[in-house]
Formats: sequence, C-alpha cells, structure tokens
Amino acid sequence: MRDTIRFLHGDTLHEIRGIDPTLTILDWLRLTRGQTGTKEGCAEGDCGACTVVVVRYDAADHLHYDAVNACIRFLPTLDGCQLLTVEQLAAPDGTLHPVQQAMVDCHGSQCGFCTPGFVMSLFAFYRHGAAPDSERVIDEALAGNLCRCTGYAPIAAAARRAFALCPPDQDRFAAAAAATTARLVALRDDQTLHVTSAGRSWYAPATLADFAALAEQLPAAVIVAGATDVGLWVTKQQRQLDLLLSVGRVAELHQIVDDGPTLTIGAAATYAAAAPALAAVAPALAAVAPDLGALIRRIGAVQVRNVGTIGGNIANGSPIGDMPPALIAAGATLVLRRGVIQRRLPLEDFFITYGRQDRQPGEFVEAVIVPKFGAGSALRVYKITKRLDQDISALCGAFAVTVANGVVTRIRIAFGGMAATPKRARHTETALIGQPWRESTIRTAIPALAQDYTPLSDWRASAAYRAEVAGNLLLKFFLETSGEAARRGAETRIVPTLAPLAAIHA
Ligand SMILES: Cc1cc2nc3c(=O)[nH]c(=O)nc-3n(C[C@H](O)[C@H](O)[C@H](O)COP(=O)(O)OP(=O)(O)OC[C@H]3O[C@@H](n4cnc5c(N)ncnc54)[C@H](O)[C@@H]3O)c2cc1C
Ligand code: FES
Ligand code: FES
Repeated sequence: MRDTIRFLHGDTLHEIRGIDPTLTILDWLRLTRGQTGTKEGCAEGDCGACTVVVVRYDAADHLHYDAVNACIRFLPTLDGCQLLTVEQLAAPDGTLHPVQQAMVDCHGSQCGFCTPGFVMSLFAFYRHGAAPDSERVIDEALAGNLCRCTGYAPIAAAARRAFALCPPDQDRFAAAAAATTARLVALRDDQTLHVTSAGRSWYAPATLADFAALAEQLPAAVIVAGATDVGLWVTKQQRQLDLLLSVGRVAELHQIVDDGPTLTIGAAATYAAAAPALAAVAPALAAVAPDLGALIRRIGAVQVRNVGTIGGNIANGSPIGDMPPALIAAGATLVLRRGVIQRRLPLEDFFITYGRQDRQPGEFVEAVIVPKFGAGSALRVYKITKRLDQDISALCGAFAVTVANGVVTRIRIAFGGMAATPKRARHTETALIGQPWRESTIRTAIPALAQDYTPLSDWRASAAYRAEVAGNLLLKFFLETSGEAARRGAETRIVPTLAPLAAIHA
C-alpha cells in the first residue's frame, strides 16, 4: 500500500501524507496553501464559485480537463491528476490566458466573487476544443456557475471571444500537453492508496479485485464515488467519516461495455462518460434510448456530471434520484458484488423502503446492465422541475412500451418522487397489458396510478399536483409515441420537460 497522495498543482508535484482524507480541495487550497482565488459560496455544489479544473489522463491517451466543484471533492481524489486553479492560468510573465483576457474584454466581472469559478468553467469548456455553435452550448457549460451582479450576457460573450483570441490547440496548455501527460503517467501505479490521519482512513484501491476484497473486509466503510452526495454529508451535515473506500481509481468500475443487445455501465462511470452528448466515449447510450442521454444532461450541471456516478445515484436509494426510474423502465438489471460473489437483481427490487436497499454488508454496486430496445418499442423519460437546469425532480416519470399489432405486449412504468423509493406502477401496467394502444385505454388505466402511489406534499410539489402530473405524463407518453400528437398537430408538452428529445425508437 502507498500512504502518500501524489498530484500536480499546476506544475508543482505534491506528495502528501498524514492528512485528513475528508479535507476538501477547497479547504486545502484556501486554508493550507493560502491560495484564495478559488471561492466558497454554497459549499454544496450549487453555485460554482469553487470551480477548479482536474486534469486526468485516460486509457485512450486523452487528457481530460474536468470542471469540478472543489467544495465537495476530497483531496485524495486528486491522486494521479493535475489540479489547475485560477492562479495557474496566466503565463509566468503575467500574460492572461485567452479565457481571462476574454472576460476582461467583454466586461465579464463586477464584484468578482464568482469570476474565478466562471473563468475555470470557461477554461474547461475552451480546453474541450470545440468553439460554441449555439447559445445553448454556452449556457450548458456555465449552468453550474451563478453570478449575482454582472449578468450572464458578457460572460457568454467571453466564451466566444476566447476562441477568437487563440484557438485551444495553440494555448500554452496545449503546448505543454505532452509533458503533462508524461508526468501524469509517471504518477500511476497499481498500489492501493491508504491515507490515514488521526484514526481516519481513506482506501483507494486500483483494481477491482483489491476493491472487492477491501469492501468485504471493511463492511462499515463508506463507499465514495463522485462524492456529490457524500461530500455534502461532510460540508453540510458536519458528519465525521472515519472509514472511506473510494471507487475512483478502479478502472474496471469506470468501463461502459456495449455487447450488442445490452450496455453494461460500471458503477463508477460518471454521467459525463455515460452521456453521449457530453462524451464521445459512450455513444452507445444513445443507442439504448436518446431520452436517457437527454435526462443526464439535466442532472446537476457540468461540475456535478463530471464526477457524479450512475452507481452512486442508484446506491444512494434516493426517492428523487433521476436515473433509477429511467433505468427501471428500461428493464435494467443491477449487478452487486461481495468478494468474488456476484449477484444480479432487477433494479426495482434493490429499493426496499426509504433509506433501505437490498445490499448486504461488504457488498457493493458493480454495474448496471441496460437492455437495448427493439423495433416496436419506445422509452421516454420526463423530468419535472421548477427550472430546466440544476434542479432536483419534483417527479420523474419513465415509460417503456412494446406494441405489436396495435396491442400492448409489454409496458414498464416507473416514477421517482411519487413514493418513498423509485417504484414501478404495477397496477397501471396490468391495466394496460393486452389492451389496444389507444387513448381510451390510457384514460381507463390512469386511475390505477392511485393504487400504485400515495405521493407526499413537500416544498417541491403538492401530493395533488404529483398525482395529476403522473397521469398527464402517461397520456403524454401515449400521445408522443403513438404518433397521435403529430396527427393532431397538438402541442403536447404539458409541463417543462426534457429539452429537445430525439426521435424515439421506431
Ligand atoms: C449540485 C447538485 C445537483 C444535483 N442534481 C441532481 C439531479 O438533478 N438529479 C439527481 O438524481 N441527483 C442529483 N444530485 C445528487 C447526486 O449528484 C447524484 O445522486 C449522484 O449520482 C451521486 O453519485 P456520486 O458518484 O456523487 O455518489 P457519492 O456521493 O459518492 O455516493 C452516494 C451514495 O452511494 C454510495 N455508493 C456510491 N457508489 C457506490 C457503489 N459502487 N456501491 C455501493 N454504494 C455506493 C455511497 O456510499 C453513498 O451512500 C445533485 C447533487 C448536487 C451536489
Ligand atoms: S462553493 Fe458553491 S459550488 Fe462549491
Ligand atoms: S461578478 Fe459579482 S457575483 Fe458575479
């Protein structure tokens, strides 16, 4: 085992041991290094003031520049990476980086509090290399950053101007790419990282076998993936986490495997890696269902999607997590593992009751297997929120149907936000199976939703609203997938829903 965290901060190699493993990158920067360019606004991943860029080198020989929220990310996750903060962007002679110069030129800053976070988000966007071809692309890149005083138009203008000032393949970071790669490769090893301080331990194995063995030996360990939930336990709930086991370095858990009929998504695959719109590495998800990609684009913002994992979204058991209803409707199978023993179960059976999942001590989520859809089938997901970006679902409805000769042969309906767990609508499904796929059937089946769900009222939505919208979404699903909406020329978007939905499977 190795007890030292090794990473680059800019060009400087840091080798750190004996540090509290739940120290956030933000606190390390500000409190330990005295580098106060990176700001703290919310300490919960919402405002983007703490945005930094983590550079990682992947198996496909790519350097990735990920914008992440330093306020909820723990320092040991930097092992093997390069951290770039606003202090590192300008050249040693003081020449501003194109994204900084563009912010100056476009008057993108007033009080300046949000500015370092915006600059780092712009920098990550710029390093991805493609000049923005629409306002929407810029809005998406900046959706995780809030500004109270400048307003967003000058900052969006800066996003365009940076590319005009200097193409990304000609800035000083592009010139240093080979050297950066060599330094990151030199930091790699297969040893388990074990960081300890004052009785607190962080284990980060590098192989699946080592991870499984440690999970079995340390059943009380908190498994950490992207920490977009776990990070808040520390920063907001002030919880003391003494034993942590990280999935971050386990390459096998990051894999997304397309074997033709199914897609197997490793538990540590991030939203960014899994969503075709965000990463070309996994266009396969689009083949399963375009709506799943569109749904992912509405989870958090870039900073959350760069680190948040699909495995974490399932394992946390939240009744309002977005992926479970979608994956249940898609007919996904969960793969759990304890030591060398694998166990598979339909995803819906994993969620037992609020806060309780079917996971044994020492067991962990290894992957989720998503079947692809054949001819005559369709899957749709509708996320209902008060605003388009960066919002948690009031409810999330997911529907998958197969129709043969005008009759429903298979239907799976699942909702988040309607019960204490993500849950299938089995009564409603029964009311539809074997019935003609037409509006009168749907209207007859909608009352069965009341047998499936007794939703709660909370600040996101009232019980009555949730119940009514659930029925409307089933109707909307029918109208959109049967072609009825197109025939009537009707506007069927009842509530703010997924931004441009691609065509369903024919
Ligand atoms: C600003 C912000 C916006 C968000 N927006 C959304 C949203 O729109 N929709 C949404 O659904 N969620 C949202 N979330 C919640 C969160 O991002 C997701 O639930 C995310 O998928 C959690 O994944 P993670 O990798 O960060 O998990 P972590 O925080 O690392 O872990 C979450 C839980 O899962 C457990 N766990 C993780 N991996 C495994 C594993 N392999 N095996 C067993 N247990 C495991 C952990 O022990 C913990 O209990 C948001 C969070 C933030 C901070
Ligand atoms: S301080 Fe607000 S996202 Fe980190
Ligand atoms: S410039 Fe003041 S908050 Fe953005």
